[in-house]
Amino acid sequence: MNILLLGSGGREHALAWKMSQSHHCDKLFIAPGNAGTSAFGTNLPFGANDFEAIKKGCLQEKIGMLVVGPEDPLVNGIYDFFQNDSTLQQITVVAPSKAAAQLEGSKAFSKKFMERQGIPTAAYAEFTAANFEDGKKYIAAHSLPVVLKADGLAAGKGVIISQTTEEALKSFEEMILGKQFGEASSKVVVEAFLSGIEVSVFILTDGVDYQIIGHAKDYKKIGEGDTGLNTGGMGCVSPVPFMDEAFMQKVTDRIIDPTVKGLAKENLNYHGFIFFGLMNMNGEPWVIEYNCRLGDPETEVVLPRLQSDLVSLFAAMDNGTLADTNINFDERSCATVMAVSGGYPGDYEKNKLISGLDIPTDSDTMIFHAGTRKTENGVETNGGRVLAVSSFGNNLSDAVEKSKKALSNISFDGIYFRKDIGFEFE
Ligand code: AMP
Ligand code: GLY
Repeated sequence: MNILLLGSGGREHALAWKMSQSHHCDKLFIAPGNAGTSAFGTNLPFGANDFEAIKKGCLQEKIGMLVVGPEDPLVNGIYDFFQNDSTLQQITVVAPSKAAAQLEGSKAFSKKFMERQGIPTAAYAEFTAANFEDGKKYIAAHSLPVVLKADGLAAGKGVIISQTTEEALKSFEEMILGKQFGEASSKVVVEAFLSGIEVSVFILTDGVDYQIIGHAKDYKKIGEGDTGLNTGGMGCVSPVPFMDEAFMQKVTDRIIDPTVKGLAKENLNYHGFIFFGLMNMNGEPWVIEYNCRLGDPETEVVLPRLQSDLVSLFAAMDNGTLADTNINFDERSCATVMAVSGGYPGDYEKNKLISGLDIPTDSDTMIFHAGTRKTENGVETNGGRVLAVSSFGNNLSDAVEKSKKALSNISFDGIYFRKDIGFEFE
């Protein structure tokens, strides 16, 4: 079967690497891909949101399966686009329907869904320009810190945690009246702050059955010791030490099972990944958010640890046999450290030549490209997050050390990476 993968980050390089190992995968295409994905398939020159170009590419390359990396095409309804087109209907699409992708596309939708299904999440209220004054009163009476979230997609930037009421009121006004995040912040969810340790859990589901694909802890802040601005993710570790059987059972019983049952009850058609962003508060799991995709850089540790054939799992999802499949994991620890461009997550320069990318293929380290592209000079930087360097180790710190060692041989102008990924588990 020929497969088309949409996206261009480290997650997509890891997906391309993993899917290309499957005997079900004949030709792999990636759109638009990056310098790393081209080692496992053919990069096609169109974006993940260009549905007409995607259709043309699918027909031209006789694609049998579409795998979607990033959230935008999911929320924009790529699943429905394929279902409603007689020339594309027979293609297996690993994605939720547009209605179900609202779990990620609208914070208010996902909060209401959790409320209906009795899933533990922070108390909240939602506001628009129409009830702006009520929102101000709600915030003024709220405990601190208080969390404000743009309802729609805001490229990971739409969450503001305020330590004072004044700051929160200012953000609230900027979001709703000042349209800080455009249409995405015309509605704002105001919610209670959950304090604890975050963990991301991933399942693949057909809307009835599911399999847990893995879990990871992401380090979102740019600075060491979790300081400074939020980023897309600076590194990840898996497994997470507190994810023992007892905690995982709570996650399954209180969160995953009611979510999947809720999808069926509410007729939300789902054939893809669910990413549960969780907070471990004193040993109890709470949902911070749902995403309808794999995480980046979580994927760069989750897929290396997944020993099962991913394309077979997608096929099982498609033909209703997911419950009968066996999933195997590599018991070793895996860590990824993200190398970013100087200045990221603020302004940064691109087109810096990268050296040191050649590593022995039998090593415990894998280099997943994120923002890179091939030029006549070699591989150059092409984004804020440039490379995710993942390693297996006997424990988390061993894995992190191996990635740091590989990174000590990699260079490009302005390179920066956190040296303390996994610090709280040492
Ligand atoms: P989100 O876009 O919902 O993933 O939020 C981004 C980040 O903000 C999360 O990964 C958390 O670190 C933080 N966050 C979001 N909601 C809360 C909350 N209710 N309590 C504490 N932290 C939160
Ligand atoms: N690393 C967080 C995310 O992919 O949303």
